[in-house]
Amino acid sequence: MGTGLAIHGGKKAVTADTRDQWRRPVAEEKAAVCELIDQGFLSGSGTGKPKEFEDQFREFIGCKYVLATSHGHTAIASAYFAAGLGAGDEFIHPTIGYLGSYAGALHMGAKPVFCEVDPKTVLADPKDIERRITPRTRVINPIHMCGRVCDMDALLALCNKHGLVLVEDAAHAHGSEWGGVKIGNLGHIACFSCQGIVPGGKPVSAGEGGIVATNDRELYERALIYCHLHRSGSLEELTNPVYKQLDAQLLGWKWRAHPLALAIAQVSLKTLPYRIEHFIATREELRAKIRDIPGVEFAHNYPKAKAAELYGGYWLLYDANALGGLSAEVFCKALNEEGVPITARAFRAPEHLRAIYTKDLPGLWGKGHPGPANIPLPRYKKGDYPVSEGLVGKVLGMPGWIDPARGLIDQIATAFRKVADNYKALL
Ligand SMILES: Cc1ncc(COP(=O)(O)O)c(C=O)c1O
Repeated sequence: MGTGLAIHGGKKAVTADTRDQWRRPVAEEKAAVCELIDQGFLSGSGTGKPKEFEDQFREFIGCKYVLATSHGHTAIASAYFAAGLGAGDEFIHPTIGYLGSYAGALHMGAKPVFCEVDPKTVLADPKDIERRITPRTRVINPIHMCGRVCDMDALLALCNKHGLVLVEDAAHAHGSEWGGVKIGNLGHIACFSCQGIVPGGKPVSAGEGGIVATNDRELYERALIYCHLHRSGSLEELTNPVYKQLDAQLLGWKWRAHPLALAIAQVSLKTLPYRIEHFIATREELRAKIRDIPGVEFAHNYPKAKAAELYGGYWLLYDANALGGLSAEVFCKALNEEGVPITARAFRAPEHLRAIYTKDLPGLWGKGHPGPANIPLPRYKKGDYPVSEGLVGKVLGMPGWIDPARGLIDQIATAFRKVADNYKALL
């Protein structure tokens, strides 16, 4: 065909290794884990390694209070309880969101009210959130997706105006900042996940794990009594005179983190600043190199945001109109053939189109009840969130790199240019 495109039999633009060249310090992880095994310290919270990690993360974020939990979703469920959410209350969550983020709220019998995302940032849209606030709304639960920070000024203003609690899903956002302040140190309560292993896992990874961070003593104490059964010294630590009357089993959930996981998280936290700076430098290099290529641009970040983006990779907005109507699938297929790891589906279906909101699932909830906690779940249908639904298949996802192989970023930029220059041959 004479295009030189790899999809037409031409040479691939990308020949460099597309894997991240950064390697985690495995020997240090092993030593940290073995030390705990030798000590026989394999369970507990509020003491030893778990307390040490909480203190280190608290210092890193700069906030007052931190709790390490078993998972990100248990951290968020505890934050929902801390916020005072209960049966019949409403919370607002972006429909380009994540069930694990609000599962705790669902099981408390609260009603999910989804909001649209802004089509340029693909983050919860504060204007749309405001339209959905009712007298029953108690919590706004935005996601700093892939470490890209939501509009914190607008969200906090909404919370202040309507008396709501901001439960930030910061599962991907360790080290991300807003106006020079780290996430976890400027909102009400923020929750991080430590799932996976770096690179590719959550920015501070532990296999499994989660973290609650807040500057609010009351929110901290409520999260603690909800999820840290038998935390060492909890009754002495609590200051609320009502919570102090509980016994050491507090409210019964034991959602503390495993000490072995925290030993790995501690090593991960040490390398985080290096990884963030290198990741951002690589992203900016690629952004500059593809800036003038039509049809594709990085998802926008707010000017006050410093997006760590170590988890979930780059999200790119695709505009088929700029390339004669070329579909995102074909655009990505041509790039894949050039050697670029890219997908036309940075995210899956929106939350409101999940089976639990769109299908009758007889017997699912037991005894014929229409939802968890005997509260009917709302029903949603296609077309309810046109902005977010319209983004499905148009936001491209690509891994980012901390230390890319030599020449990789140039080659990826060349591949984008090659495909865009030859779009007519792909139609
Ligand atoms: C946006 C978001 N929120 C919450 C979670 C829950 O974290 P965990 O898997 O640690 O429970 C995840 C996990 O991937 C996530 O991506």
